[in-house]
Amino acid sequence: MRTTAVLVSIAITGLSALAQADNTELGKEVFTQVAQPSCTICHALSDAGSAGAIGPDLDELKPSRDQVINAVTQGVGVMPAFEGSLSEEQIKALADYIISVTTNAN
Ligand code: HEC
Repeated sequence: MRTTAVLVSIAITGLSALAQADNTELGKEVFTQVAQPSCTICHALSDAGSAGAIGPDLDELKPSRDQVINAVTQGVGVMPAFEGSLSEEQIKALADYIISVTTNAN
């Protein structure tokens, strides 16, 4: 079981390094894989390769950081709240990611 412990600690170190080095990478992963139901089912976002049409097209909407955080945390309309399933860090990373691929401002 020592091997398992070593692998787990490598995975944890790797994940936190990733989150610090590049929050947008984490955000993309949350957008495409971690969030359940996936953001991609309902939203189009060209960087993520998604074409969901239930919610607004995020390339066009260009939501602000607050819009992303509020929508994901509390839900909006038929969009579910992710407060119980995503951490604050994952939600912030999502906002960083969406902003970085939809605006030229930063
Ligand atoms: C079940 C479909 C569904 C899923 C899954 C979903 N959304 Fe949404 N989302 C919607 C709909 C529908 C709206 C529009 C709600 C309204 O304005 O009434 C919306 C709105 C939004 C908005 C705009 C909020 C605003 O202030 O106008 C953002 C940003 C957003 N979603 C991001 C996300 C992200 C990020 C995820 C993944 C964590 C996600 N959504 C998952 C359906 C979904």
